[in-house]
Amino acid sequence: MVNKIEVRDLNCYYNKRCVLESLTINVIQNEILSIIGPANSGKTTFLRTLNRMNDLDATYCRKGEIYLDGEHIFNMNMENLRKRISMLFAMPIPLPMTIYENIVYAPKRLGLITRKSDQDAIVEQALRDASLWDEVKDRLNTSAMKISGGQQQRLCIARILAVNPEVILFDEPCSGLDPISTAKVEESMIELKEKYTIVLVTNNVKQASRVGDKTAFFLMGKLVEIDETDKLFVSPKEKQTENYITGRFG
Ligand SMILES: Nc1ncnc2c1ncn2[C@@H]1O[C@H](COP(=O)(O)OP(=O)(O)OP(=O)(O)O)[C@@H](O)[C@H]1O
Ligand SMILES: [Mg+2]
Repeated sequence: MVNKIEVRDLNCYYNKRCVLESLTINVIQNEILSIIGPANSGKTTFLRTLNRMNDLDATYCRKGEIYLDGEHIFNMNMENLRKRISMLFAMPIPLPMTIYENIVYAPKRLGLITRKSDQDAIVEQALRDASLWDEVKDRLNTSAMKISGGQQQRLCIARILAVNPEVILFDEPCSGLDPISTAKVEESMIELKEKYTIVLVTNNVKQASRVGDKTAFFLMGKLVEIDETDKLFVSPKEKQTENYITGRFG
């Protein structure tokens, strides 16, 4: 088991108010780490800190260390870091262009595509890896706005894959999706971990239990517990975790 990301004593603040406290956690390569916890527990702040999305927010500050493959992310070039750690937001919206153009947009901008033949191959691979190829292969030139919400969600995953990141951060990727679309996104996440390392923030405790190799429970800015998913759900060590996963919270 190789640590892809190591977080050491991380504290995050907005307007000097601490919203994430003394967080030490590892994310293991080619695993899915699920993060669960009630609203305002710091889950999104954690993801945004991992790819330095909050760095431009003047009210935000942080202390502590985060390493990607042993390299300190706060010393890295930002564009390089974001290529390696990509984030998919809750309810992402495709660009108002064709399915094909949506996928090639970022790789083109980053200079990753030089030949048209490479381009077709990248589009096909990204759509296959996002489990969407079979559904859209005959209409790559139709507008991305004309496919279903669940398909748009997987298209946004394909857009990320086209840039070939190492880590993918998902922030509530299935909010607003029906159970069948949710199941498809979950299936593609499980397939993706062969190639990528995944951190999945979810409000859906059952989703964490279905797809996470490990699950972490955050509460009011603190990591209450992290364990193998099977252990955490069958025999949580902390009473607060037990209350949360059994829906007896609050
Ligand atoms: N940009 C911001 N400016 C000020 N405070 C913020 C900002 N973003 C988040 N917060 C505060 O930080 C705390 C943690 O928020 P965060 O969004 O990380 O929680 P969360 O666990 O993702 O919640 P949810 O489940 O509702 O998405 C909350 O108290 C929130 O109000
Ligand atoms: Mg959030």
